[in-house]
Amino acid sequence: MAKIILTGDRPTGRLHLGHFVGSLRRRVELQNSGEFDEIFIMIADAQALTDNADNPEKVRQNIIEVALDYLSVGLDPAKSTLFIQSQVTELCELAFYYMNLVTVQRLQRNPTVKAEIALRGFAEGAAEGDTTQRQGIPVGFFTYPISQASDITAFRATTVPVGEDQEPMIEQTREIVHKFNAVYGETLVEPEILLPENAACMRLPGTDGKAKMSKSLNNCIYLSDTAEEVKKKVMGMYTDPDHLRVEDPGKVEGNTVFTYLDAFSRPEHFSKYLPEYASLDELKAHYRRGGLGDVKVKRLLIAILNEMLKDEYCILEADNGRAALDMVDRYGDELSLVLLDIVMPGISGFEVLAGLSRRSGIDNLPFIMISSEDSDDMVLRAYELGASDYINRPFDSRVVRRRVSNTIRLYAKQRRLTSLLSQQYNERVKNSRMLIDIMAGVMELRNGESGRHVTNIEKLTELLLGCLVQR
Ligand code: TRP
Repeated sequence: MAKIILTGDRPTGRLHLGHFVGSLRRRVELQNSGEFDEIFIMIADAQALTDNADNPEKVRQNIIEVALDYLSVGLDPAKSTLFIQSQVTELCELAFYYMNLVTVQRLQRNPTVKAEIALRGFAEGAAEGDTTQRQGIPVGFFTYPISQASDITAFRATTVPVGEDQEPMIEQTREIVHKFNAVYGETLVEPEILLPENAACMRLPGTDGKAKMSKSLNNCIYLSDTAEEVKKKVMGMYTDPDHLRVEDPGKVEGNTVFTYLDAFSRPEHFSKYLPEYASLDELKAHYRRGGLGDVKVKRLLIAILNEMLKDEYCILEADNGRAALDMVDRYGDELSLVLLDIVMPGISGFEVLAGLSRRSGIDNLPFIMISSEDSDDMVLRAYELGASDYINRPFDSRVVRRRVSNTIRLYAKQRRLTSLLSQQYNERVKNSRMLIDIMAGVMELRNGESGRHVTNIEKLTELLLGCLVQR
């Protein structure tokens, strides 16, 4: 039986480090393990509406945010199918039929539904004149475990990697599968839950030390945060409140900075960023003893997080077009890609493009134009001058990053193909040379004539073979 993964997220906000530790990191590993025949990652917008029906714009906006976060952590559309739940309308249809197989009482017993009802204040009903209070439990919300069963079974998923809070959903799905198969014949595949491996990794606390990262608590570090934002957030992080002076002994347990180090640090980070310590254990021991300040530990965490969230490129900036051309001359094929604006100090982006296209030896260097000039003429001109892509301002930096990495990958692939071809060509030329030598030897042996005659033959043969190779 094919091994198929289905999982997903509700698009109600940008994804943060808690998601990364709890699920995203694992998904990327599963994706790259090669153990699964198919992987489906769903942006559950329809499910997000079950408790955000009054805020569709939020859900709509966050579809793209979540999609970008997926790409930025390394979910690869070439390996995993990323899709939007509402676009597969059959999922709703299927849920409608499954509704006949589940009782209201069974749904009421679902612990996650129970907990979420309490959390969202659904059951309390509205006080007189209070329009902010929720009015009871929306039926759509109440039945979302059924819709989740249709998400899972529609793709014949065998494996559902989710957090432990989703366990009751998978249980409910399995019950629906049994009931369906018993009534209508063996049809549906029974899924297994795949829980996070490491208990410590299941839940990352917020930067304030509260149990969980949550947008409403304003204690999240987002995957899309800049290096500056990460620094500010880590510097403000909760540590040990009794660790007042550097020389005081400090507590590591319940100290959020250390919890994050547990989740993210690797041995090589120490030699790189804090060589006085060989390992996290040594750092912890020093903190416990006293004499180690919070700021030093936080600096390490900042370095590690920023390394993890940073761009994987080394970026050279040119102040103007001429400087850009100079850099191209200086760095040549060390460059992977050039990003250009049209309006620049000194010479324009078009002039830079023209200058670049006159240079030899950089055929493999792609250029991407980024500009607020979006007239067709401008775009066309950029393409005619050899630009590989054209991105309009204003842009989302994650989209730019993705287009940059796609272009670089494409060019790398092309380079590999070209070198493969020329390798094959050279191989053939070598083989032909060998053939010529052998033939020449044979000729001489046969009629003992002058070497000149043999060389003539050799020339002719070479010409002939040359033509053959060209075919
Ligand atoms: N319930 C999941 C969440 O809260 C999202 C989701 C919807 C899902 N359908 C799914 C997860 C199917 C796994 C399988 O984020």
